[in-house]
Amino acid sequence: MVLEGTWTSLFTWIFCALIPCLLMDPGARVPAPQNLSVHSANMNHRLTWSPVTVSGDAAVRYWVEYQGEYESLYMSHIWIPSRWCSPTPGPECDVTDDITATVPYGLRVRATAGPETSAWSALKQPFNRNSTRLTPPRMAVTKDGSHLVLELEDLGPQCEFFVVYWRNEPGAKEHAKVVRGAGLPVHLGAMEPGAAYCVKARTRVTVISRHSAFGQAQCVEAQGEPLPLALALFAFLAFVLFLVALPFSVWKMGQLLRYSCCPMASLPDTLKITNPSRKLVACRREEEVDACVLAVLSPEEVFGAWI
Ligand SMILES: *[C@@H]1O[C@H](CO)[C@@H](O)[C@H](O)[C@H]1NC(C)=O
Ligand SMILES: *[C@@H]1O[C@H](CO)[C@@H](O)[C@H](O)[C@H]1NC(C)=O
Repeated sequence: MVLEGTWTSLFTWIFCALIPCLLMDPGARVPAPQNLSVHSANMNHRLTWSPVTVSGDAAVRYWVEYQGEYESLYMSHIWIPSRWCSPTPGPECDVTDDITATVPYGLRVRATAGPETSAWSALKQPFNRNSTRLTPPRMAVTKDGSHLVLELEDLGPQCEFFVVYWRNEPGAKEHAKVVRGAGLPVHLGAMEPGAAYCVKARTRVTVISRHSAFGQAQCVEAQGEPLPLALALFAFLAFVLFLVALPFSVWKMGQLLRYSCCPMASLPDTLKITNPSRKLVACRREEEVDACVLAVLSPEEVFGAWI
């Protein structure tokens, strides 16, 4: 029994003595990545580091982990493998999908080459997404018929846009609109013909209560002449047309009236009679003769007459 206890404690001791060795950086042959930094713009966060070089031809891969305030305070400081970089081949990692709260985040990375693993290297200052750099969106202002149309750059799901537009003249009233979900053309409003309209926009992120500066305003001119001038032109054209059409229609009307009251239609050739009196008389005479013959003569007489 005593011997068994001794063995057990010996094993425990050996095991415990070995743990630091197992946990320790096994090879100084893979250096830990250096110069970690986060580049964050418009709520897209990218962790970068200096690439690690190793002797031999084993491919280097990087493993990124993060630790938010929640993991740090309530989950015994556990680190969670990054969604897209466990592992990743290049010296950078898009951690946008890992950083889901506006709290300080720790980030760390290590390199592996074949079976060898480097030590972890951590970001010196925790990263908070509220420090993201916000830029105004790129935009295109166009017109669709008489509508002012705006197309905005898609900056991802967290960004919305605060758009201001106005008629380009002194003292014009500004109109504002919030646009969510970029990438599709937005109809801002109707434009009066001949007037110019201007648009400017800023990026807004509500989860961090921040917005960018306004970008450069862009203007577009509505098609056509201003309404009063266009109307005058239209009226003038209509008047000219009327003047030209009046004499013609009077003449046409006169002709129509003449033909419907006193028609001068010419007869087709078949109906034309070249020598009316003689022919008609001749016809009548023959018919009369035939009728008399039929009425007076009996069949026998006709037969006799025929012979
Ligand atoms: C870290 O960055 C500095 C300057 O940016 C550079 O001089 C240094 O070589 C980098 N370290 C590594 C390991 O690449
Ligand atoms: C970000 O939030 C922290 C508190 O979580 C605050 O101390 C800091 O000033 C904020 N930074 C910006 C740029 O808003």
